[in-house]
Amino acid sequence: MLTGAGAVFNTARMEAGARAAVVGLGGVGFSSLLAAAACGARAIVAVDLLESKLETARSLGATHCFNAADPQIIDKVKEATGGGVDYAFEMAGSVKALELAYRITARGGTTVTAGLPNPAAKWELQAVSLIAEERTVKGSYIGSCVPARDVPRFVAMYRAGHLPVNRLLSERVPLAEINPALDRLARGEAIRQVIMMD
Ligand SMILES: NC(=O)c1ccc[n+]([C@@H]2O[C@H](COP(=O)([O-])OP(=O)(O)OC[C@H]3O[C@@H](n4cnc5c(N)ncnc54)[C@H](O)[C@@H]3O)[C@@H](O)[C@H]2O)c1
Repeated sequence: MLTGAGAVFNTARMEAGARAAVVGLGGVGFSSLLAAAACGARAIVAVDLLESKLETARSLGATHCFNAADPQIIDKVKEATGGGVDYAFEMAGSVKALELAYRITARGGTTVTAGLPNPAAKWELQAVSLIAEERTVKGSYIGSCVPARDVPRFVAMYRAGHLPVNRLLSERVPLAEINPALDRLARGEAIRQVIMMD
C-alpha cells in the first residue's frame, strides 16, 4: 500500500479529476488504482498482460482495461482518454512497461515509475518529447512515504472506506504453505496474501 498509494498521493500529488493509468496490476499497481479512485480520478486505465487482472481492476473502479500485449494499445488508450492520461504509473518492473506508461501519458503529463527493472536494463527515451510535450518522469521509492506520517494516514483512509485495501487480500496462508503461495503469487493467481504465523 505504501508504494502503490504513496506513488499517487505523494510522488505524483495527483489532483481530483485527473486521468490516470496503471501499468502492471500486482499488489503495488492495484494499490495505485485504489488511490487514484480515492483522488477522484475521472478516468482510470488499467493495463496488464493477464486478463484475470483486468477483470479484478474493473471491479475495483478501473474505467478502461487493456491488455499490454494488444498491438493497438497506445492508440486505444489515447482514444479512450482524449489524448492520453495526466498520470501514468509503471508498476510492473520492466522497461517495456515503462515505455508503454510513457507513451500513454498525455502532453503535459507525468509518468511515475516504481517497478524495479533489472539494474542492467536501459530505457531509450525520445528526448525531444520531454521538451516539446512538457513531460515529467519521476521515480518513486516506497511511494515517497514518510512511514510515521503515511501509515496512520492510510489506515485512517481505509477505516473511512476510501482505501479498501481488504479487497486486495486473496488468501490467508499458514506458514507451512508459504512456498506454493509464493508460486501462486508469481503466476499472478493472487494479489496479496497474509502469512499466518500461529
Ligand atoms: N519502488 C519501490 O519502492 C518498490 C517497492 C516494492 C515493490 N516494487 C516493485 O514494484 C513492482 C510491482 O510489485 P508487485 O508486488 O505488484 O509485483 P507483481 O509481480 O505481483 O505484479 C506485477 C504485475 O505486472 C504485470 N506485468 C508484467 N509485465 C508487464 C507489462 N509489460 N505490461 C503490463 N503489465 C505487466 C504482471 O502480469 C503482474 O500482474 C515490482 O517490480 C517490485 O519489485 C517497487
